[in-house]
Amino acid sequence: MERLDLVDPSLYLDGVPRDYLRWLRDNEPVAWHDEADGPGYWVLSRYDDVVAANRDWQRYSNALKGSSIEEARSEEELEVRRRIFVNQDPPDHTRHRKLVSHAFTPGHVRRMTPLIEETCSRLVDGLLDGEVHDFVDVAEELSFQMVATLFGVPEADRPELLAITRQLADFQDPEVNPGLAPRPEVQQAMFAYGAGLVAEVRADPDAHRGVVVDLVQAEVVEDGEVHRLSDLELVAFFPAVLVGGLSTTAHAMTEAVHAWIEDPTIFEPWLGGDECPPQVVEELLRWRGPVMSFRRTATEDHELRGQAIRAGDKVLLSYASANRDERHFGDPDRFDAERTPLDHVAFGGGGPHFCIGAQLARLDLRLVLGELFRRVASFEAAGEPQRLRANQFAGWLHHPVVAHPR
Ligand code: HEM
Repeated sequence: MERLDLVDPSLYLDGVPRDYLRWLRDNEPVAWHDEADGPGYWVLSRYDDVVAANRDWQRYSNALKGSSIEEARSEEELEVRRRIFVNQDPPDHTRHRKLVSHAFTPGHVRRMTPLIEETCSRLVDGLLDGEVHDFVDVAEELSFQMVATLFGVPEADRPELLAITRQLADFQDPEVNPGLAPRPEVQQAMFAYGAGLVAEVRADPDAHRGVVVDLVQAEVVEDGEVHRLSDLELVAFFPAVLVGGLSTTAHAMTEAVHAWIEDPTIFEPWLGGDECPPQVVEELLRWRGPVMSFRRTATEDHELRGQAIRAGDKVLLSYASANRDERHFGDPDRFDAERTPLDHVAFGGGGPHFCIGAQLARLDLRLVLGELFRRVASFEAAGEPQRLRANQFAGWLHHPVVAHPR
């Protein structure tokens, strides 16, 4: 089969190339792809290989070249990327992640339930006014409010910060970034915002709440040595958590509504019921999860399924493909919330970088879908939906809908 360039963001304007990924799994599970504007890359498309590579951080590094598909344009840019733990390897990664992880524990996240319920209820009230709504805006508002609250962003700052976060997250789409050129000033704006908030928190910690307070005060003692985050490291958390939290969860919500319009019977067993069972969320994430891949860099020459991977090679772990691997999931293209096993890799394959926001994303999705199942009888498309131009997130730019009440 002719090679598709899986790092070309335009490819995904027509959706995830499922047939091509299936072909790779069957014929070339470890497949080299040349890259017009980069060094070329391997694609790991089978479930077992993605899980194994995810766990083998010694061989597949996040620190060497970062975890983004795009190459850093300079060593300096790479250094900036490495300030955040997604672009580090253990032990640095372990230490940094430990400094924030308690803010993301299930108990901590569960405390947000009343706020999420209230936000869902308000948003669905608005959605049910008989008018056309872009569901992307509804989903973004919900997921941004949740992640901003968890993080501790004051209410008044949120509209401005949402605009910056969207520009960072959707930088490959010409509607959001008309020149499609690198825009360091947007990242600078995010860092400047972060630096300002960190300074305010330091000056008066009692006036603030959320992860940002934990970050400023966090300490980890290792071998008798106390580690704290530097100001540069603190500021680096802002884009990582806000971008990681905004688009992913929002895209998953919009994808659920898209699936509902495509097949109005898909959620029938739960419509009119009281809640969305957790396995519905898990199966949605397996079937159409929003994160298509993450990047690693090989640290040593080795062989995988007969292919010679060399130290320094770029390797993409295709979660979109692994989640449809028929060697692991029976009838993988079918949405089936009863399936077992349901051990998808939408949040990663269980290695050190497993999504830190998974509990929050699951809760958001369960509560928003629960509210929609309870109150919405059906969705109607109110115009052509438009996919986002992006090579790492499978998402939507616009999805106009009318929601009909139950
Ligand atoms: C449906 C929603 C989400 C999906 C599908 C998702 C998916 C992922 C995936 C696949 C990874 C990489 C795993 C790996 O490399 O092993 C990841 C990492 C990460 N995610 Fe998420 N994510 C979601 C929501 C969130 C939310 C809500 C937040 C923040 C509140 C978040 C913050 C992060 C961060 C900071 C990392 C890096 C973790 C590390 O390197 O240790 N994500 N996510």
